[in-house]
Amino acid sequence: MMDSSIPYLSLAAGAVAVTAAVAPKVKARIELSRAKHRSLAGHSKMSRRISKLIPRYEFDIKEFFRSDGAPADIATRRQDGFFRLSALYQDRFAKSRAATAEAAAGISDLQFTQAYRVPFQYSRLVKDHLGAGSFMQASSGVTLTDLDGNTFYDLAGSYGVNIFGYDFYKDCIAGADKRAQTLGPVLGFYHPVVADNVKRLTELSGMDEVSFHMSGTEAVMQAVRLARYHTGQTHLVRFAGSYHGWWGDVQPGAGNPIAPHETYTLAEMSERTLHVLKTRRDIACVLINPLQALHPNSNAPGDSTLVDSSRQGKYDRAAYTEWLKKLREVCTERGIVLLFDEVFLGFRLAPGGAQEYFGVKADIVTYGKSLGGGLPIGVVCGKSRFMRRFRDEKPADICFARGTFNSHPYVMTAMDEFLSRLKSPNFSAIYNGLDGTWNGRARQLNDALAAKELPVHVSNLQSIWMVEYTSPSRYNWMLQYYLRAEGLALSWVGTGRFIFSLNYTDADFAEVSKRFVAAAEKMKQDAWWWNDGSITNKAIKRKILKEMLGHAFGRT
Ligand SMILES: Cc1ncc(COP(=O)(O)O)c(C=O)c1O
Repeated sequence: MMDSSIPYLSLAAGAVAVTAAVAPKVKARIELSRAKHRSLAGHSKMSRRISKLIPRYEFDIKEFFRSDGAPADIATRRQDGFFRLSALYQDRFAKSRAATAEAAAGISDLQFTQAYRVPFQYSRLVKDHLGAGSFMQASSGVTLTDLDGNTFYDLAGSYGVNIFGYDFYKDCIAGADKRAQTLGPVLGFYHPVVADNVKRLTELSGMDEVSFHMSGTEAVMQAVRLARYHTGQTHLVRFAGSYHGWWGDVQPGAGNPIAPHETYTLAEMSERTLHVLKTRRDIACVLINPLQALHPNSNAPGDSTLVDSSRQGKYDRAAYTEWLKKLREVCTERGIVLLFDEVFLGFRLAPGGAQEYFGVKADIVTYGKSLGGGLPIGVVCGKSRFMRRFRDEKPADICFARGTFNSHPYVMTAMDEFLSRLKSPNFSAIYNGLDGTWNGRARQLNDALAAKELPVHVSNLQSIWMVEYTSPSRYNWMLQYYLRAEGLALSWVGTGRFIFSLNYTDADFAEVSKRFVAAAEKMKQDAWWWNDGSITNKAIKRKILKEMLGHAFGRT
């Protein structure tokens, strides 16, 4: 009896030992799962899987106008409005449309953006009838002029590059051209202006060293590689919904054909995330994109994903500042590199960027976009201890980074033009009272929209805006086409992001506001926002799911 119990005892002891060894791992794994945001943006693997399951289906011309179950008279009003708009587009944007149609077959990017301006079910009819063209011939002040000579207020903002107005960047480039001519496009050696740029960048970022790259994506790649090299840890933490360029490790969800294995996507502004940072040992860095303060844990709010009216901005400066402070604390405590990705927001909120605006210091900061003075750029600024690419004691253990066009003389002189203007005393006045100015403008537009009982609202992080819709609808994305007809140029993501340049005067803004309200009124008259009370955001989502299942299983 005794003998036979011994193997059981040792088995049980073994089991206890295995459990004891495995339990912390299981616990850590559970904690990691609990620190994910509950939305799809918080679940990269699942989002990639689901993206592969969604079947393509398109509404024919009849369904297009009544996909929300609207009665025939409403569908007719919508259809009339749509084709009135289409006739206007054909007439007013004839040359721009023709040039775009001719070029599209050879420009993959254009094919993509044309297809994803609106939810895919509506895409074909919209593309055929409401393409305004993707070419422009001139910019001036806050406006753009297309090939037909139409002038638009620019709300696209060149992906965020345009902070100070196009004329500012034209001057930077012209100045750069003059100063770089003598050396020309010599690479590998530096134009003398590089030293000045480094001095200015270290000053404004509060960092010790700088490296130059060709795009924001590359700057982020290098920053993460350095963090891994210096911490000896593998994983980067990014927050649900945040964009850091299109490199695989920072884009783990849909859009990337393979899953990166060293990325944790966690919920932003979450105590559970802080707990994970406090307890895991494999984290090299945490990436912050401060633009997410406008819509924490949500993807960039493009109109192609605007299937109902649940999109909401939630900017709270105090709460976001508090969050960044907590992150700073835990990263310092745990030796994790805190990386501010200011490629988008750097130089927009304050001369010292998001670090200055939120009053929190990072270990490494990436910049890009505007900093090139209108030319392509990516920059990493960091503390020496994180920027070094070799080790004295282990000469073969290096952290490699190169790039043929890094420190290009024309880009470096344009950057110097940018930074010298930024430094000049009267220029800094541009930053005075920005919160007040832009919040006031948003309020002004919201009051005008409310006065006309239009179901539209804007929210903003200073000069970056997004449009929200206050009554459930499947057709909110149509507003971008009414806006274009009123002479407002939006980027291909539609009404999810307006990027104003800071040279917008009150008079310019008043004109934009007037046109915005006019566009929304016309859209309302054309019955796109019809709702008999049965349409809720939940009901819309349920209907779309039903459509998808029907198409996936051939039951349509
Ligand atoms: C925060 C952020 N990081 C990185 C990038 C990538 O920069 P680029 O497009 O220059 O590669 C972007 C671009 O929008 C960005 O917004």
